Amino acid sequence: MSKHKVLLLGATGETGGDVLTGLLEDNTFAVSLLVQPSSADKSANQAFKERGLPIIIGDLNGSVDELSKVISGFQTVISTIGAADQKTQLTLVEACALAKTPRFIPCGFTTVCPPGGVMSLRDDKEVVYQRILREKVPYTIIDVGYWHQISFPKLASGKIDYATLVPRNDVFHDGEAKTLLTDKRDMGRFVARIIKDSRTLNQKVFTYSDSLSQNEIIALLEEKSGEKVETTRVSASELLARRDQARKDYEAVNEDPTFWMKRMMRSQTEYQVSKYLRKDNTVDNAKYLGYLNARELYPDFQPIKFEQLLDEVLAGKGQRPYVGRF
Ligand SMILES: NC(=O)c1ccc[n+]([C@@H]2O[C@H](COP(=O)([O-])OP(=O)(O)OC[C@H]3O[C@@H](n4cnc5c(N)ncnc54)[C@H](OP(=O)(O)O)[C@@H]3O)[C@@H](O)[C@H]2O)c1
Repeated sequence: MSKHKVLLLGATGETGGDVLTGLLEDNTFAVSLLVQPSSADKSANQAFKERGLPIIIGDLNGSVDELSKVISGFQTVISTIGAADQKTQLTLVEACALAKTPRFIPCGFTTVCPPGGVMSLRDDKEVVYQRILREKVPYTIIDVGYWHQISFPKLASGKIDYATLVPRNDVFHDGEAKTLLTDKRDMGRFVARIIKDSRTLNQKVFTYSDSLSQNEIIALLEEKSGEKVETTRVSASELLARRDQARKDYEAVNEDPTFWMKRMMRSQTEYQVSKYLRKDNTVDNAKYLGYLNARELYPDFQPIKFEQLLDEVLAGKGQRPYVGRF
C-alpha cells in the first residue's frame, strides 16, 4: 500500500522534531520536509537528507503560485512554525488552497485558549485560522496543552536544573487551577493518529495525558524527590500587573517588535493568566470551544504520563528543550 504523503514544515524545531519522530515511528507516512531557502544548507537539514528524508525548498515570503507548485501532491501539509512567525503561514494557506491540499495542519500545538485578547500568540494563530476558513482549505487544528517538559519547578538542591527552562518557582493565585499537559514526545504520535482520521477533518482536536494543578505537581515532585519545593506565591492581581507591564514593555520596543526577551515575557505572563486565572486550558473549556478530545477518539493511546517524565528527570534522563537557544 502506498504511504500517506506528508509535507512537514519545522522539522529542525522543537515541535516539528517531535512531530517528525512520531510520524516516522508510525511507519505509514512518506514524509518530506519543507525548508526555507535560507536554511537549505543548515547541518540539521543535511542530516535529514542523509537519513533519506526529501528536502523541499519553499519560500513562505515568496509568491503563492510558486509555493503551491512546491507543495502540490501532498495529502497532508503540517506547519510547526515558531511562535513569532505565525502569520508567515498566510502564504502557505493560500498555496494549500491553490494546490487543493486535502488537509492542512496549521501551527496550533498550544494550550486551549479562546481568541480575542487573552494570548497574543493565540490571536496570531487565529488570523491564520480565519484565512483557512475564508479559502475553504480542509484543515485540522491540533492543540496539546502545555508540555510536561516545561511544567515542573526546580528543586533547591539544583538536582533537576539541567532539565528545566522555568526560571522561578512561582505559584499563581491559589495554585489549584488544573491545566492540560502533554509530553512533547507524544505530539507526533497523536498527530499520526489524527491526520489519518476522517472524523478530525475540519475540526479542532486537543491532546493531553494529565490535567494537573501547580499544587498537585509540587506535591508529586516533593514525594518523588524527598525534597521540599520552595515556592513564591503570586496573587492574581500581581500576575495581572506583571502581564500588563510585559505587554507595555513589548509595545515599547518599537525599533524591533520581535525582540525575543520582551516577547517571551509577554508570552509567559499571557500563558499564566490564561492557564491559572482564566482556567482556559481544561477539558471542559476545550469541549465548550468545540474541540474533539483525542483521548476519547483514541482510547487505546497510552500517553506518557507526567509522573513518568518526573521519574526520568529525577533519574538524570530528562531532556531540556531549546538546548543552545534559551
Ligand atoms: N504547548 C506548549 O507547551 C508549547 C511550547 C513551546 C512552543 N509551542 C508552540 O509550538 C509551535 C512551534 O514552536 P517551536 O518552539 O516548536 O518552534 P521552533 O523550535 O522555534 O522551530 C520553528 C521551526 O519553524 C521553521 N521555520 C521558521 N520560519 C520558517 C519559514 N519561513 N519557512 C519554513 N520553515 C520555517 C524553523 O526552521 P529553520 O531551521 O529554517 O529555522 C524551525 O524548524 C508554536 O506555535 C508555539 O506556540 C507550544
